[in-house]
Amino acid sequence: MSDFLVIGSGIAGLSFAIKAAEHGTVTVITKGKLLESNTAWAQGGISAVLPPELRDPADDCAKHVADTLDAGAGLCHEDTVRIVVEEAAETIEELVDWGTDFDHEEEDPSRFSLGKEGGHSHRRILHAKDTTGREIATSLVETARKTANITILENHYAIDLITTGKLGSVTDDRILGAYVLEIETDEVKTITSPRVILATGGCGKTYLYTTNPDSSTGDGLAMSWRAGASIANMEFIQFHPTCFYNPAASGPEARSFLVSEAVRGEGAILVNDEGVEFVKEHDPRGSLAPRDIVARAIDTEIKRTGAPCVFLDVSPLGDHFTERFPFIHETLLSYGHNALEKPIPVVPAAHYQCGGVVTDMNAKTTIRGLYAVGEVAFTGLHGANRLASNSLLEGNVMARRALAEIMRLYPPGKEIPDAPEIPIWESGNAAPPDELVNIYHAWDELRRTMQDYVSIVRTDNRLRRAAYRLKNLRREVKEFYWGHTVTPDILELRNLVATASIIIDSAQLRKESRGSHHTLDYPNTESRFESDTVLRRF
Ligand code: FAD
Ligand code: SIN
Repeated sequence: MSDFLVIGSGIAGLSFAIKAAEHGTVTVITKGKLLESNTAWAQGGISAVLPPELRDPADDCAKHVADTLDAGAGLCHEDTVRIVVEEAAETIEELVDWGTDFDHEEEDPSRFSLGKEGGHSHRRILHAKDTTGREIATSLVETARKTANITILENHYAIDLITTGKLGSVTDDRILGAYVLEIETDEVKTITSPRVILATGGCGKTYLYTTNPDSSTGDGLAMSWRAGASIANMEFIQFHPTCFYNPAASGPEARSFLVSEAVRGEGAILVNDEGVEFVKEHDPRGSLAPRDIVARAIDTEIKRTGAPCVFLDVSPLGDHFTERFPFIHETLLSYGHNALEKPIPVVPAAHYQCGGVVTDMNAKTTIRGLYAVGEVAFTGLHGANRLASNSLLEGNVMARRALAEIMRLYPPGKEIPDAPEIPIWESGNAAPPDELVNIYHAWDELRRTMQDYVSIVRTDNRLRRAAYRLKNLRREVKEFYWGHTVTPDILELRNLVATASIIIDSAQLRKESRGSHHTLDYPNTESRFESDTVLRRF
């Protein structure tokens, strides 16, 4: 038994763990290696309105709030937005204390160098060149490793949450721990804790083309759903406008390398194959409009011209491109593309889940003792479309708030009700090799279905088709799951199918277009839909 069980090792999980270790024992489990997370892949940076002497004098918290609300298309929870924006500067200090080395201005090294991205009215994005996520993740991992009280279990896959509700109680629903597969030994352990922090990140892998790493399979969302937690706004899947279009790649890296929005923030522009800056026809802010608008403009342009991609012209940056974005430049060169010679071919790809497990402003879910932090959570910050670089920030701020709330409600040492006996995990039979093909086929069918039918532009018809296919896939996956020894592949497929079904159900309920949910059947935004889509399994 640990005082705290943290599931996930991105910014949300590790920043919580480091702080919680001052108050009790912490077990962090992560399904791969510690550095395998979306956090480590983040490029652009983390947004924050810094103290007056360090920020753009024209900027302030009210403007960051206004930009976030504007991007969120009427669905942001304003109280949450204010809290996250106002607590940003403090959490940046914390990251710096843990060793994160953000870039400073060359002319005045006492000031951070601040970048800009789509939808931001001012420069307020701290970064470490174009590998901000790697810098943050490394400093968190190093700090966590040397913090007493933290036990780190890599290659430990959380299969399901254990709650009193799942064990049959109808009067008391609280968390007891999780069943966890140790991947190297195939052993399923029961890890108990009265305080579980879910920090499992997003679900980009429900789509064929995504900027996300392989770990983003919606596990936390699906586990919470099965445990009966409320889930909100999963129809709002944000597509990043500028993923490198790489037809030569046939493996999983095809269409997955992100070209940061910060490149546009420094002056790069999106053009079609005739060099026309087409986004201006959709929004006066052009290439730096919020993401949903830019992604849709690209989708429209690709469909209009029949071209497979559009282009990002970095020539306005001159030498600044290679100085500020060395990782992007080098990676593109490794794919055979020199951005200094030719505009970068780009397409949109699934990037971020704006919805998630419903929490209050202190990360508390609808299940007692279960907290959700980071991309897996729905706090109301992002509304229908997340403002760029607000998610690393949210993970860090909400981790602090979660800990403060736990210390207020039931700190370690405070007596907690007795736990009912937890049944030990029972394994099925091994999957015969000739059946593994079924798993890979289902995985592929799922991701293709989502890509083709539940993408940037939707229709009732496409959503119906997707729902029909998902029904079959759910049935098949149930057979794989109950008949076989669990493996990470089966577990991820099970979670992807559950997450995709929730996305489709949510999208079918929203009969309007708003933010990153756009449907040809209901092209307008309607005030009667100005509320969250909340689902719960009964
Ligand atoms: P993650 O960092 O994704 O961590 C989730 C962790 O949970 C991982 O360690 C994973 O292995 C683990 N996990 C998942 N399931 C299980 C399970 N069943 N059992 C055990 N462990 C599990 N946001 C910004 O604000 N600024 C940016 O510049 C930016 N750039 C981005 C660039 C890219 C390419 C991508 C993909 C995303 C970017 N984002 C950016 C989004 C941002 O990175 C994520 O939203 C954020 O890092 C999420 O943090 P997290 O801690 O919630 O989850
Ligand atoms: C990017 O660098 O373009 C990603 C930023 C984000 O997703 O917030």
